[in-house]
Amino acid sequence: MMIGKFPLTRMRRNRSSTAIRRLVAENTFSIDDLIWPVFIMEGTGIETEISSMVGIKRVSIDRLPSYVEPAVQLGLPALALFPVTPKKNRNPEGSEAFNSENLICRAARTLKQYFPDILLMGDIALDPYTDHGHDGIIHNKIIVNDKTIEILIKQSLTQVQAGIDVLAPSDMMDGRIGAIRQALDQAGQDRILIMSYAAKYASAYYGPFRDALETGELLVGDKKTYQMDPANRGEALLEVEMDIQEGADSVIIKPGLPYLDIVRSVRDRFEIPIISYQVSGEYSMLMNAIHQGYLKKDQTILETLLCFKRAGANAIITYFALEAAKLLSQR
Ligand code: PBG
Repeated sequence: MMIGKFPLTRMRRNRSSTAIRRLVAENTFSIDDLIWPVFIMEGTGIETEISSMVGIKRVSIDRLPSYVEPAVQLGLPALALFPVTPKKNRNPEGSEAFNSENLICRAARTLKQYFPDILLMGDIALDPYTDHGHDGIIHNKIIVNDKTIEILIKQSLTQVQAGIDVLAPSDMMDGRIGAIRQALDQAGQDRILIMSYAAKYASAYYGPFRDALETGELLVGDKKTYQMDPANRGEALLEVEMDIQEGADSVIIKPGLPYLDIVRSVRDRFEIPIISYQVSGEYSMLMNAIHQGYLKKDQTILETLLCFKRAGANAIITYFALEAAKLLSQR
């Protein structure tokens, strides 16, 4: 490859004005790329702060439409719903997951009434519903794979009935994408999207999320027998390939920033849409530094989200989605 030589070539010329920088920018991001996670809880008239996630709230269903309306008005394409299930509704099998009156189903029905065009994502995993905080059911201290999938299928069909458009299995059981896809097809639901958490790592960065869902104190042990080892990259490619074969429409890589090398590796290998999840711990780190005055809020948010695009992500699930949408609309 021929490359320029100084002084005939001066790289700074392409950086010399806003106009030329705009023309030569290789990546951009817009509101089209953002998915906003929303925590839902029981009760009425409730919007409570999550102490480890400054600026993010848990909201009751009656408050949900007004809480998400600013994001919808700005044109945000999708919401990811996460329920804070009361302890009394949790049990070892997580059967609340397939109760058609559970939080997520009621929230989906309410949101669809107000905002019929927004894409609703439902998390498929049992941890918000089990009394031990694991994503699957336990037999003899083992998180059992195939029996868990039977419940995930019921959970999926229940959410679809309530109006969820995109199923996002985050449980990391083997073979669940294929099993859910087959069950959807048998139920005549061939238009439902599956956005698979294909490469989800056993990460310390999920801490604040577990606080938000109140599963942190319940969790016995860790999730290392099903979530991936942070040491591994090639394994992520195998996971992605299998999920594509099993009928996933897109794949999620999670966490976000510390795992952008995985996003790039998957992008170089596959044409499937990639969604990167900037998780709760990443949000907390940045937000804390912003609140202390160590980082500038607007620049930090915009730069960080752009980096996901440069790595090869098509879209980003981020707690900054509403803030970012506001910033983008002001530019
Ligand atoms: C549940 C789930 C988790 C997250 C999304 N779905 C937590 C976990 O696996 O323990 C984490 C999201 C975040 O940290 O923002 N299966």
